Amino acid sequence: MKLELRSPINERAGIHVPDEVAQLAKPFNGTVVSKEGDEYPIKNNIIDLLGKEPDFTSIANYSNHWKLTASIYEDIWRKRSLSLLSGEEFPIEKEHELLIEWTAPKVDGWYLDLGCSTALYGRALKAAQKKANIVALDFSSQMLEEARLKAEADETDMYFLRADGRHLPFFSNTFDGIVMGGTLNELTEEIKVLYEAKRVIKKDGVFFMMHLIKSDAWYGRLLQESASLGGIKFWTVDESNKLFNQAGFKVEEQLVKGIVCFTKLVPA
Ligand SMILES: C[S@@+](CC[C@H](N)C(=O)[O-])C[C@H]1O[C@@H](n2cnc3c(N)ncnc32)[C@H](O)[C@@H]1O
Repeated sequence: MKLELRSPINERAGIHVPDEVAQLAKPFNGTVVSKEGDEYPIKNNIIDLLGKEPDFTSIANYSNHWKLTASIYEDIWRKRSLSLLSGEEFPIEKEHELLIEWTAPKVDGWYLDLGCSTALYGRALKAAQKKANIVALDFSSQMLEEARLKAEADETDMYFLRADGRHLPFFSNTFDGIVMGGTLNELTEEIKVLYEAKRVIKKDGVFFMMHLIKSDAWYGRLLQESASLGGIKFWTVDESNKLFNQAGFKVEEQLVKGIVCFTKLVPA
């Protein structure tokens, strides 16, 4: 099956994406055109449905658009972050194990890494199931360029898409799974993104999420209050689950380690 996008300006118009766009060993430059004629550039395999820079409403979001953040994010911060945040040794391999166990990527299945940054989750899914199709989406060009470099280095083919999670450019019931690592806390309009996730996931799909919750400790709360000035939000587990229910998901599995929470959601 081929990737078909939904035009961001004409909800009924599909956009066919050539398979070669996901084949990263060969740079792909060109355009894709919707059935209504709106056209979008593909530069070095990254499909850009956004064009202009998004409006930044927080420092957290702004910093994701710096080349420096993109280049150091995964190796300096991401791979160590869960051990620091959970208060116990939590290597990235353990997180990947949970991701694969709960998501169980299928042959020919379609998976969306939503707010992918360097597409750590997308690459892990593809490593576990070579015959799955992965779409990694972010609104930061800098993050997508870094993700593309890492995926090519790992010989992991996938689609890269620059788009806004608040208006997902896919038709309803497209994905067998959605994965989202750490992004919930950084979203400016989380409920819009969750509604969109609910729309594009299949009825029997699974949504794997790693998110941060409110700290119980006074010093943790102090740190979180200063982080929230930069646009990062925290909810308790109950508040997070209310948000998921509101968007039409139900919690099937949940694991809390310190302020790190892993949640497996399915459509309610
Ligand atoms: C915490 S990082 C994601 C980390 C990554 N998922 C991982 O597991 O390593 C959050 C990412 O979400 C992206 N992002 C935030 N809001 C977005 C939106 N509305 N649409 C698309 N991407 C968004 C940011 O650009 C950033 O790269």
